[in-house]
Amino acid sequence: MTRPFIYVTRKCSKEQLQPLYEIANVEMWPEEEIPCPRELLLEKAKKADALLTMLSDAIDKQLLDEAKQLKVVANLAVGFDNIDVRYAKERGVVVCNTPDVLTDTTADLTFGLILATARRLMEASDFVKNNQWKSWGPLLLAGHDVHHKTIGIVGMGKIGQAVAKRATGFEMNILYHNRSRNEEAESRFGASYASLDELLAKADFVICLTPLTEETRELFNKEAFKKMKTSAIFINVSRGAVVNEDDLYEALTKNEIAGAGLDVFLNEPIEADHPLVGLNNVVALPHIGSASFDTRYTMMNLCAENIASVLKGEEPKTRVVVK
Ligand code: GLV
Ligand code: GLV
Repeated sequence: MTRPFIYVTRKCSKEQLQPLYEIANVEMWPEEEIPCPRELLLEKAKKADALLTMLSDAIDKQLLDEAKQLKVVANLAVGFDNIDVRYAKERGVVVCNTPDVLTDTTADLTFGLILATARRLMEASDFVKNNQWKSWGPLLLAGHDVHHKTIGIVGMGKIGQAVAKRATGFEMNILYHNRSRNEEAESRFGASYASLDELLAKADFVICLTPLTEETRELFNKEAFKKMKTSAIFINVSRGAVVNEDDLYEALTKNEIAGAGLDVFLNEPIEADHPLVGLNNVVALPHIGSASFDTRYTMMNLCAENIASVLKGEEPKTRVVVK
């Protein structure tokens, strides 16, 4: 029997992918920061039994039609909006993601971004590094408090819940909005369910953690920003497309909201001349929500285990289920 062929679309740690090397011929795109070109991905997909993909790879109808032998796509992310999951299901291709293992790491980053934006940590750090610190001043680089304020979490999944847990330590009032009530978040962390409008009107920190779907695309638009307090800080750790970036820019420049902390953008990567990056009240990060060494290695390993399971005819640990 010929060994299955697995293509990994970005340089990953071979140690973490060991379960794959034991059962298959594994090829890997050798670059860490340059994505595998589309043409090459299509060519490799045509003969692949499995793909280990990144959120920057479009696994669409064209690819799935051409990938006649493909049995499984394991995405190195909890999000899977880069994959046409419904069509994959029609084609009998199993899709897996990496939930749970990145929950705490992403919640830590979310809280870091809240603090960095509210307390102006990046500006303050640049101030020292640029040799601007000449004296201490009562309102020098003064920002907004986080403790005891109201946090509004839009998307109360596992990460939302882990953010709520951290918010209890800051003695915050916790509101959340979600498609369905999350009783665990209510009983464990004292989170209160709110309509989206109520959350937007009351929250000092509006935290976007909702997955990108057709329903959530541009959920944060002009109308939404107008409903927020002028002192509100908007944090996005989900996907850029959940926000209308032109509307966000306008809300920030017209002082309709106070600031934004963004780990994700509509078209990634963005460049330094992106309008949002030029604003002092924006903290911009290069999509590093789950980027700790431990978590990224664990995610690689989970992808490898999932692929190995599917190729052995077993149920993978974390299959994406669509209705
Ligand atoms: C990162 O954005 C992920 O979906 O894991
Ligand atoms: C991730 O695991 C989420 O459900 O938010």
